[in-house]
Amino acid sequence: MSSQNIYILGIESSCDDTAASIIHNGKILSNVVASQKIHEEFGGVVPELASRAHQQNIVPVVHQALKIAGITKDQLHAVAFTRGPGLMGSLLVGTSFAKSLAYGLNIPLIDVNHMQAHILAHFIDEAGFNKPSFPFIAMTISGGHTQIVKVKSYFDMTVIGETIDDAVGEAYDKSGKILGLGYPAGPEIDKRAQMGNPKAYPFTKPKVDGLNFSFSGLKTAILYFIQREVKTNPNFIEENLNDICASIQYTIIGILIDKLKLASKQTGIKQIAIGGGVSANSGIRKALKDGEQKFGWTTYVPKFEFTTDNAAMIAIVGYLKYLEGDFAEQHVTASARLKI
Ligand code: KG4
Ligand code: ZN
Repeated sequence: MSSQNIYILGIESSCDDTAASIIHNGKILSNVVASQKIHEEFGGVVPELASRAHQQNIVPVVHQALKIAGITKDQLHAVAFTRGPGLMGSLLVGTSFAKSLAYGLNIPLIDVNHMQAHILAHFIDEAGFNKPSFPFIAMTISGGHTQIVKVKSYFDMTVIGETIDDAVGEAYDKSGKILGLGYPAGPEIDKRAQMGNPKAYPFTKPKVDGLNFSFSGLKTAILYFIQREVKTNPNFIEENLNDICASIQYTIIGILIDKLKLASKQTGIKQIAIGGGVSANSGIRKALKDGEQKFGWTTYVPKFEFTTDNAAMIAIVGYLKYLEGDFAEQHVTASARLKI
């Protein structure tokens, strides 16, 4: 199939961001995200509210993506959408919209796995960003997932490690809740961590065999530690917030880097990529760069706007699948627990 002048619309609605993007031959022309503020007051995503907000947002977001790209819907070659994993009600909005649009325009429909998309975001054409060569190891770190994936080609991926309980983003968000920070807490903990002492409060790293992760014990350890300290000093959190954040971040990054080192040793692969919301984190970005010197890694960190949930990553997968002629049937359904 010719790779000339291909326009793909990507739609993402797996969680609380309604997003649409237009990609033209691997280059992003527009990348629109409507983040749902409504969840902040609840300290986490409320699925029913998320799907209602997706319904309100999806038409304007797609319109905006087309407008910014400077094309009309009739110029599209295919519609790609997130099939899963994610919240069922949220996925259904994007899935139904994409199916109807592709049907109405009589163009192919392309289903995309959200976790594969976090990895394949590295193949978006962006000045100053190198694309990984195969095979490479990808660590996807987000609010819903934490996985280490061996990537042999675009669509030949094997999960070689994953969390057995909370995701790393959840560890950030739950720690933030304990500290009275807003949701999502990852960005604020990261900001404060850079101003604090990472060794102020040592937290024990969980012992999990092999390449799997566990973060729920860390969250409990942080909770008990804070409860104990606040008993003797009610202002403990306010007085030491930056140090607490730095110590939490130091522990989490230590856990992630330990597992990457093991994955690299076990597979003999030194090309390491990260993706997902937590890959925006300054600590993991710095630790990866350090890994280049220390362990001879070549590392790939996505452009900031392609870390948290976005539709550009869905559009690039749509483009890659379009080139292979890998299309979905109209009867495809959303899948909340879709695996890589
Ligand atoms: O990929 P994403 O947007 O959504 C999911 O698929 O889950 O990731 C959101 C997660 C949240 O848990 C948020 O706290 C975390 O990414 N996050 C961060 C940072 N920016 C976002 N965590 C640590 N440091 C950051 N700078
Ligand atoms: Zn995600």
